[in-house]
Amino acid sequence: MGKQRQNWTAAPWDDREELEVAMVIPETTDTATIAFRAPSGAWFDYQPGQFLTLDLPVPGGPLSRTYTISSSPSRPLSISITVKAQPGSIGTRWMLDHLKPGMRIKAHGPAGQFSFMRHPAKKYLFISAGSGITPMMSMTTWAWDSGEMPDIAFVHAARKPADIIFRSRLEQFAARVPGLQLRFTVEEVDPFEVWSGFRGRLSQIMLGLMAPDYLEREVFCCGPEPFMRAVREMLGALGYDMARYHEESFAAPALIEVPVEAAPQVGLAELVFQASGTSISSDGGETVLAAARRAGLNIPSSCNFGLCGTCKVQKLSGEVAMVHNGGISDEEIAAGMILACCSRPQGPVTLDL
Ligand SMILES: Cc1cc2nc3c(=O)[nH]c(=O)nc-3n(C[C@H](O)[C@H](O)[C@H](O)COP(=O)(O)OP(=O)(O)OC[C@H]3O[C@@H](n4cnc5c(N)ncnc54)[C@H](O)[C@@H]3O)c2cc1C
Ligand code: FES
Repeated sequence: MGKQRQNWTAAPWDDREELEVAMVIPETTDTATIAFRAPSGAWFDYQPGQFLTLDLPVPGGPLSRTYTISSSPSRPLSISITVKAQPGSIGTRWMLDHLKPGMRIKAHGPAGQFSFMRHPAKKYLFISAGSGITPMMSMTTWAWDSGEMPDIAFVHAARKPADIIFRSRLEQFAARVPGLQLRFTVEEVDPFEVWSGFRGRLSQIMLGLMAPDYLEREVFCCGPEPFMRAVREMLGALGYDMARYHEESFAAPALIEVPVEAAPQVGLAELVFQASGTSISSDGGETVLAAARRAGLNIPSSCNFGLCGTCKVQKLSGEVAMVHNGGISDEEIAAGMILACCSRPQGPVTLDL
């Protein structure tokens, strides 16, 4: 701890510096929080709710994976992510099995727009399921540390009580301030444990009991797509103003509806990768990422649905149809950048790759 204090500098961390694992903290089954520090002693500046993308050196080649920052920028000496490995997981499982204090990892970011800092309100309703609790934890910790705990109805759904990530930390917060109301619902209870929370899937009636004034609250939702779809349908049917609804998706939406004017014109296109001196023919239905892979070029990617920004590349000429989810700014688009995972060539295109 002394060393960390001595090294602490006034400079904020930027992602050219690798992160060093400081602690690996078990949370629930197959879930751990990984706390990183900057070897230079730099501090971390981000908005609660934003994410990092890590390059994981798994056997067989590096994988990029995106994780919400579960710590709060109000505690800037370290930065944490909380990862849950699903059955069959490659990247997250590798992290749980291999990351040890002292190891260094390349990270990109922070990035993302899912933050209550962007939508100031008097009252919030956080609705999450499973590992979707991570941005809510970051925002709640920020609110707690700010000393002005806003009114947060914190609704979380888990399979069983033992799966509720951050339960005891949240209960400690909630026990001390009236503004944080914790409402958990589980599908099954643990044997030999008393459970006094809700049981069953989140429903309109349950939501009404958990947060009777939900119509007055700015809603932030994060969880598996079927869960978020159910929440959207529920709120819409209850007459909630969906302009005040914000969500973060951890996986590609099941169906991306492409506006007619943005629909790709399918036809043969030539993609030229100038720096590599190679080119490939592509039909307009294929993404630049897929075409580059066919040409033997690896563009790092993580979310594959235009959110994380990992696959950003510079376009030198030509037109693409890009339907993204916020992973690129208007300034970057104006400067000719594209997201390879969600851009389709519309005729000849040259990339700085
Ligand atoms: C903005 C954002 C924030 C996120 N925040 C978090 C977070 O806070 N915490 C968190 O845990 N995750 C988070 N994620 C999800 C995370 O990025 C990964 O997508 C997720 O952890 C899965 O990656 P993985 O390496 O564990 O699994 P992968 O190896 O990518 O596998 C994913 C699933 O696909 C299946 N699969 C893998 N390979 C194959 C194959 N060849 N054929 C068929 N099926 C296969 C596996 O069964 C597995 O269930 C976030 C994602 C985004 C976009
Ligand atoms: S891989 Fe995430 S934006 Fe393309």
